[in-house]
Amino acid sequence: MTRTVYVNGEYLPEADAKISIFDRGFLMADGVYEVTSVLDGKLVDFDGHAKRLERSLTELDMASPVTMDELLEIHRELVRRNDLTEGGIYLQITRGAPADRDFAFPDPEETPSTIVLFTQVKNLANAPAATKGISVISIEDQRWARRDIKTVQLLYPSMGKMMAKAAGADDAWMVEDGQVTEGTSNNAYIVKDGKIITRQLSNDILHGITRAAVLRLAKEAQMVVEERGFTIEEAQQADEAFITSATTFVQPVVSIDGATVGEGTPGRIALRLREIYIEESRAKAI
Ligand code: PDD
Repeated sequence: MTRTVYVNGEYLPEADAKISIFDRGFLMADGVYEVTSVLDGKLVDFDGHAKRLERSLTELDMASPVTMDELLEIHRELVRRNDLTEGGIYLQITRGAPADRDFAFPDPEETPSTIVLFTQVKNLANAPAATKGISVISIEDQRWARRDIKTVQLLYPSMGKMMAKAAGADDAWMVEDGQVTEGTSNNAYIVKDGKIITRQLSNDILHGITRAAVLRLAKEAQMVVEERGFTIEEAQQADEAFITSATTFVQPVVSIDGATVGEGTPGRIALRLREIYIEESRAKAI
């Protein structure tokens, strides 16, 4: 089946979807994005993603070409047209395509933002990595200082994934001033003596929508949460480690820079959080 995508007000077969070579997303990475997961043909935490999108746009003084209600309708229509039961919807808004390349932002009255959405089929709830666990390496965090804005500047995270691949690992955790910031495309956690430890929110990390839900669920389940930075050495000596994101939910980490975490198998707390997160997501998806 040919995928139907959404570009600037139109639903089109993916081969017919076109963006200008002058689009600032293409020339300057001047764009923001969101990835919303789909379970049972429904959107998980759409509200959270819509709010973060609005925040990203505001921080960059970028206009949205659609209202958040329209955005919900577009997401739902894409799910329907592509018969998507499980996977995700990728959304990108850029500062549009001015007449020529210029560093200065174009006048939004003359250059409307570009909006693109497409579906991705993915096995989320029964992903093999969830039962096996993943391995990570540590790399230096060389991204810019506004990681709280979900921009499409993903070159360094892509390089991080390639460094992990070259080292025979699944992903990389980024380290700044001796402490883990986050994974290349996910938030990072450790568990020690029953306590869940993850870096506090700031401009240093993306404020994960899955993170917010998982921490809330952990607290509701009477688990102790400590929001602070941690080192790779502390993580290697932890009882468990895991990551969260819209595309992985909660995924256990069983090895860090070659050192086994805990028993080297997915941890009990990570697996429990994964279970309750999926249960709640299915129940609340819209
Ligand atoms: N990435 N940190 C980074 C750097 C991310 O890129 C992501 C998400 C997260 C987790 O955020 P959330 O729980 O809202 O998905 C944390 C998406 C999935 C991606 O780039 O594909």
